[in-house]
Amino acid sequence: MGSGFGDRGRGGARGRGASRGGRGGAGGARGGQKTVVEPHRHPGVFVARGKEDLLVTKNLTPGESVYGEKRLTVETTPANNAGAVNGEVAPATKTEYRVWNPFRSKLAAGILGGMEDIHMKPGSKVLYLGAASGTSVSHVADIVGPTGTVFAVEFSHRSGRDLINMATHRTNVIPIIEDARHPLKYRMLVSMVDCIFADVAQPDQARIVGLNAHLFLKVGGGVVVSIKANCIDSTAAPEAVFAREVVKLREERIKPKEQLTLEPFERDHAMVVGVYQRTAA
Ligand SMILES: C[S@@+](CC[C@H](N)C(=O)[O-])C[C@H]1O[C@@H](n2cnc3c(N)ncnc32)[C@H](O)[C@@H]1O
Repeated sequence: MGSGFGDRGRGGARGRGASRGGRGGAGGARGGQKTVVEPHRHPGVFVARGKEDLLVTKNLTPGESVYGEKRLTVETTPANNAGAVNGEVAPATKTEYRVWNPFRSKLAAGILGGMEDIHMKPGSKVLYLGAASGTSVSHVADIVGPTGTVFAVEFSHRSGRDLINMATHRTNVIPIIEDARHPLKYRMLVSMVDCIFADVAQPDQARIVGLNAHLFLKVGGGVVVSIKANCIDSTAAPEAVFAREVVKLREERIKPKEQLTLEPFERDHAMVVGVYQRTAA
């Protein structure tokens, strides 16, 4: 199977969990090879099957790429000519998807690694800490769709410019240029959320997640944290760093449910997924 991600090696949508049924119709990138898009078992995520399998999300702003990623269009002919007027052939519907590169997004890497629960789906409200210029955020915006919201926090003004620009086209993204260590500064902008996703790559990330969870996360809500071992302690073994981070998350009332490494897409990174509890985890 090809990778679909140029010289960055393996990256096809092989991971566990690609759903079998529900074919979405035929189309193709650049009018070439036929592509079939199937829903992934995580609602809002899709797999494009073709010469290469690719993870994709449904483009919220058809016709536009966010960071130069490839797009593919799938045309679906309505079953039994539904929607036909005066006996004419019903028009085909076109759906555009954006390719989601697991080498550029830890969430995509985690999904391909077999995450059981990503705690976000169409309609979800997600607080995203460490939004950078918004590449991954844009895919989260596709997943939650027009009825969901992504509150995207980033403290770098340089990255924040791209983030704000992306959000002008994607109205379900609220860009917040603030330090995630001070959530009270943005409490007026953020509602209660279903999920906190964190990728701030800071030694005190667990504390940052806790501060935000205590203010904004619903009890029973999901926490998805990407941990880069050498950002926390470059002298300890990555496994030991991950274990210590899990203890810190427990102290913040986040009950760990799953942990996986992000190989082969990222080295010495783990994804930890937990659930926020009313009392100590
Ligand atoms: C690893 S990058 C995030 C990449 C991004 N999640 C993606 O997949 O495209 C970490 C980001 O967190 C931001 N960051 C670090 N500490 C932060 C803080 N305390 N508050 C807000 N943003 C922070 C950095 O500026 C950087 O853009």
